[in-house]
Amino acid sequence: MRILVAGGAGFIGSHFVKRLLRGGGDVVVLDKLTYSGNRANLPDGVEFHHGDIAEAADVARAAERCDAIVNFAAETHVDRSVLSAEEFGRTNFHGTQTLLEHIRESGQRLVQVSTDEVYGDLEAGGSSRETDPLDPSSPYSAAKAAGELLIPAYVRTYGVDACITRGSNTYGPNQYPEKFIPLFVTNLFDGEPVPLYGDGKQVRDWLYVEDHCAGVELVLRRGRTGEIYNIGGGDEHYNIDVAELLFEQTGADRSLLRRVDDRPGHDRRYSVDTSKLRSLGWAPDITFDVGLRTTVEWYRENRAWWEPIKSGEFREYYERQYGERLSTSSPA
Ligand code: NAD
Ligand code: TYD
Repeated sequence: MRILVAGGAGFIGSHFVKRLLRGGGDVVVLDKLTYSGNRANLPDGVEFHHGDIAEAADVARAAERCDAIVNFAAETHVDRSVLSAEEFGRTNFHGTQTLLEHIRESGQRLVQVSTDEVYGDLEAGGSSRETDPLDPSSPYSAAKAAGELLIPAYVRTYGVDACITRGSNTYGPNQYPEKFIPLFVTNLFDGEPVPLYGDGKQVRDWLYVEDHCAGVELVLRRGRTGEIYNIGGGDEHYNIDVAELLFEQTGADRSLLRRVDDRPGHDRRYSVDTSKLRSLGWAPDITFDVGLRTTVEWYRENRAWWEPIKSGEFREYYERQYGERLSTSSPA
């Protein structure tokens, strides 16, 4: 199978590309190289097309001679969607539609990589199942939900071959340091304060990146058309507890912890029921304890990867997102 990985220069997409290559796969990457896309995430020699999933000609060029498309391409950060939501609609909704229009003609299979955030807040308890209603809270998750809602409509109306995965919060090497874990780890290595939102009692269901990729690959190969599959680590932790582990593992001074104003619309908890994917033979391999240590060690040893990122466009974003909040915060 020749596979087009859209968004393959980003965090999860690049791990997916490396996984397919390890298995002897034939892989092509299409990526717009937005702020979070990075060619350095990819091994040398991978066929790479610089382009946009929302541009039909870019998709057609990259997808030529492929059997399937796996779509990781998206605007992915909730805080950025709160600051400015427009690009989220363009890539996460219109980009997905462009891929669907393409496969209507080509007959290729599409796996749409979505997120558990489409279910919205699960503070009351339990775990989300694939049949639960969608109730997204942020412009990011609403645009992801809008994009994935096109899939069953295109399957039913046009008979396209497409599946959806809904992964939970993912962590591991090569994650852009705007997300919680890599932001905290890299700030702590630099002796900078770390901003914990609100009371820190929000819960996320953490999934190691390789386990996420294994789930997506299984759906690519064995998922049934029109079906949705949750992927989650089942490792639920309060943010404050994750922060404490990061202080322990980096050896940083606890006085760097700051409680800052909460994110608007912040979901308190996510949790997914993964029995459907498990019935296809998937199970997570890496516990949070092992995965977090591996991740912290990777950032310790790969400053050359993240230091240039943190001094570029990121600085401007960081100032906008945290400048005021941190200046009015106090040590926790
Ligand atoms: P990321 O931000 O690291 O990577 C996104 C990639 O998409 C980048 O390489 C970027 O250049 C590319 N891209 C953005 N807009 C594009 C466009 N219009 N055309 C082509 N390429 C474009 O994100 P990630 O964390 O690797 O997430 C990948 C996917 O997984 C996303 O669809 C996201 O919604 C989903 N997801 C992420 C998580 C998580 O915790 N990170 C959890 C569940 C689902
Ligand atoms: P994040 O990595 O942005 O993922 P998501 O919002 O998609 O779940 O955030 C994970 C959790 O960490 C979320 O509850 C928000 C919290 N958080 C902070 O407390 N401080 C931060 O600086 C960031 C980026 C996140």
